[in-house]
Amino acid sequence: MAPIAQRPRGTQDLLPADQPYWDAMEGAAKAVAGRFGYQRIETPIFEPTELFQRGAGESSDIVAKEMYTFNDRGNRSLTLRPEGTAPIVRAYFDGGLDREPQPVRLFYYGPYFRYDRPQAGRFRELHQFGIEAIGDASPVLDVEAIVLGWNWFAALDIGGVSLHLNSIGDEVCRPAYRELLREYYRPHLAKLSEESRARFEKNPLRLFDSKDPQDEALKRDAPHIIDHLCAPCAEAFQVVKEGLASEEIPFELNPELVRGLDYYTRTVFEFQHASLGGAQNALCGGGRYDGLAAALGYRSTPGVGFAMGMDRTAIVLKQSKPLTLPGPDIYAVALEAADELYVFHLASTLRARGHRVVFDPGPARLDAKLRKAARRGARLALLVGPEEREKNQVVIRDMASKTQASIAKGELLSTVGQMLGGA
Ligand code: HAM
Repeated sequence: MAPIAQRPRGTQDLLPADQPYWDAMEGAAKAVAGRFGYQRIETPIFEPTELFQRGAGESSDIVAKEMYTFNDRGNRSLTLRPEGTAPIVRAYFDGGLDREPQPVRLFYYGPYFRYDRPQAGRFRELHQFGIEAIGDASPVLDVEAIVLGWNWFAALDIGGVSLHLNSIGDEVCRPAYRELLREYYRPHLAKLSEESRARFEKNPLRLFDSKDPQDEALKRDAPHIIDHLCAPCAEAFQVVKEGLASEEIPFELNPELVRGLDYYTRTVFEFQHASLGGAQNALCGGGRYDGLAAALGYRSTPGVGFAMGMDRTAIVLKQSKPLTLPGPDIYAVALEAADELYVFHLASTLRARGHRVVFDPGPARLDAKLRKAARRGARLALLVGPEEREKNQVVIRDMASKTQASIAKGELLSTVGQMLGGA
């Protein structure tokens, strides 16, 4: 009979061999976010569908095409979270964080769900590490977010990251620009791809996201919002650029960077990595979202943040820096079935001292057992057969030097302590 289940398309199993990369990413997230005073938050995996409709916005691809939405048994429409920012703004108000000293700085990591066509670097279950600083409009917090992200890459020793930066204005300057853009595109509507025609109506800024060769030529001469910012947006952007320069973080101004979520205002940015290639080269996306809280029905509250794509970062990490699982201190082997419980108990005694011990069950030849110990990367092997039991002895083998000695059972803890401590 064939196995019953297959992994759903666009998902992955993160096997033990993958875990060192995830440990490194999560460890760096905690360490770096902690250094900047960001505190961990976790929100539910599913939320009311409306949160994302109003947050990411009806015109975003995420909401229009990619949500995992279902009705629960109480007939409520719920959605597996496609992104973290709207849920965190909800939690900020639900949890009373809006009454704490501002800004409130939060970080998070976990799984997100988007129903898109899977390809290299694009998953249906993806993972993000993100930060949000909510409750203060200072553009220096935009700089802080970018510096924090930059430091995360540095902590992981990931080079080759480029920062793309733009400002997409706010509700003061964007409406006029939107009209300007429509005016520019209107005479060419017939030449646009179908998707771009829909964007022309709903959210013309996203015309810049088109990858359609048909639209490329038109994109080149289109007006850029960066040239049409109102004075406060232009001043804020100036601070961001100066801040990055003084922090010595190189950036590329990318006037076509508009981001795919509707909630952004002013600063938007992406970290990209050339080795990912193709369309999925963004390792991270972020920006300011001063209108999001109000769009969700809360008191107007500014915020800024980013989300790193951990799956893509894992791909880059694997290419640049192989990491392996740490092996156990001791691999404990019974040579015959009758010795198993005896060895299991010795293993317990060693664990009580804080050693990491893997017990190996089942009869097998000694050389096969030692190969298993080596494969697991154990530093020592503990070997017990009928002869050792009879003499109240054990054999300790140093796996690296391939030397071994019989010792009295009573000396096990001190010998192991010396051998492990002295290495
Ligand atoms: P986003 O640009 O949609 O932003 O996603 C951020 C990052 O998540 C992307 O740059 C990418 O690395 C990764 N990512 C997105 N979709 C996938 C996928 N299908 N497979 C693999 N990786 C993916 C947001 O989600 C915003 N909430 C970021 C933010 C936080 N803005 C402000 N605060």
